[in-house]
Amino acid sequence: MIIGVPKEIKNNENRVALTPAGVSELVKRGHTVQVQRTAGEGSGFSDAEYEAAGARMLASIEDVYGASEMIMKVKEPIESEYNLIREGQLLFTYFHFASYEPLTHAMIERKAICLAYETVERADRSLPLLIPMSEVAGRMSIQEGAKYLEKPLKGRGILLGGVPGVPPAKVLILGGGIVGTQAAKMAAGLGADVTILDINLFRLRELSDIMPANVKTGMSNEYTIRELVKTSDLIVGAVLIPGAKAPHLITRDMLRTMRPGTVLVDVAVDQGGCIETCKPTTHEDPTYIIDDVVHYCVANMPGAVPYTSTLALTNATLPYAIQLAGKGWQKACTDNPELRLGLNVVNGKVVYRGVAEAFGLPYDEVGTVLQPATAVA
Ligand SMILES: NC(=O)c1ccc[n+]([C@@H]2O[C@H](COP(=O)([O-])OP(=O)(O)OC[C@H]3O[C@@H](n4cnc5c(N)ncnc54)[C@H](O)[C@@H]3O)[C@@H](O)[C@H]2O)c1
Repeated sequence: MIIGVPKEIKNNENRVALTPAGVSELVKRGHTVQVQRTAGEGSGFSDAEYEAAGARMLASIEDVYGASEMIMKVKEPIESEYNLIREGQLLFTYFHFASYEPLTHAMIERKAICLAYETVERADRSLPLLIPMSEVAGRMSIQEGAKYLEKPLKGRGILLGGVPGVPPAKVLILGGGIVGTQAAKMAAGLGADVTILDINLFRLRELSDIMPANVKTGMSNEYTIRELVKTSDLIVGAVLIPGAKAPHLITRDMLRTMRPGTVLVDVAVDQGGCIETCKPTTHEDPTYIIDDVVHYCVANMPGAVPYTSTLALTNATLPYAIQLAGKGWQKACTDNPELRLGLNVVNGKVVYRGVAEAFGLPYDEVGTVLQPATAVA
């Protein structure tokens, strides 16, 4: 198969869909990989490294789209790319269709095959192509929180780990899923006094078994949160209720009970935030202050560490890309139910129920666009 990797052109996007190692794995299997010049630069991969791995380097985005059967990207195509997409061309990338109606209509019109990273789903309902970004954001939340706790950045001026003779900072983590677990690991590693709250008692049991002694677990409820915020130095919002807006676990009135210079990192900002006073910020201007409490609410945290994020993402996408390239999308999606759930828009049909419902569009069962299953002898 001919696979194309264009340079990401969305504002501030430095990730790239394939690393030189990924190129090498595909080329080894007999595929042709065409990479747009400088596509890997933002993540620290040079054109020379791609060439050495066997990629064909192309000068323009038009060349990449024009000559490829599968396009691998990170972000959804933006308006200037719509006309480059050809009928029947497979696009494997994050789409987040439900959040942008014009993109959905454009992909229907182009009759592309849109396989969305965010809806590829394993049998246990986990989302293997979203997990790596949650891992990055979770770990980063402590790094950023520690930074903004410094006095020159308007924090309390407290070191997370303390020093001998001085107690460590208190870190409160709301939600013990992927983000919360990674945040807890980082905070614990730095020596902080960590508490994770969740509503899932089974999850709390698991965390209690695997976390070091400086991590406590607790049941998430308003009473407990009200008490803990008064003495916490860093609070990380990491809750998720699938398919719904995040609940406001920290309300505006609680801010006045916190100590001045407390730092709130609301990772759940992309689902509306679990802190009532959360509003999305950017890496250019990541924080704002309300009632002497520092708010960090960057909606694309992994964007600040493109080297790590690119490697983490491509580790997860490559095995699927290899299946798609080797079998073609129809057979790969017929054989693998995880990939099948990634199909959102195919040949002008919306085949993912959530996207159809979001915009009142007709919905077609995914089976109508797939080959009939091969009979088992
Ligand atoms: N800002 C960013 O750059 C960025 C990056 C990645 C992920 N995220 C977001 O981070 C959030 C968390 O993602 P995740 O992958 O960890 O999700 P997850 O599903 O792994 O974990 C969510 C956890 O929240 C818990 N929860 C639900 N309601 C709760 C409540 N009332 N109190 C306490 N816990 C509660 C759940 O039981 C679950 O354990 C999501 O909104 C995700 O979109 C943001």
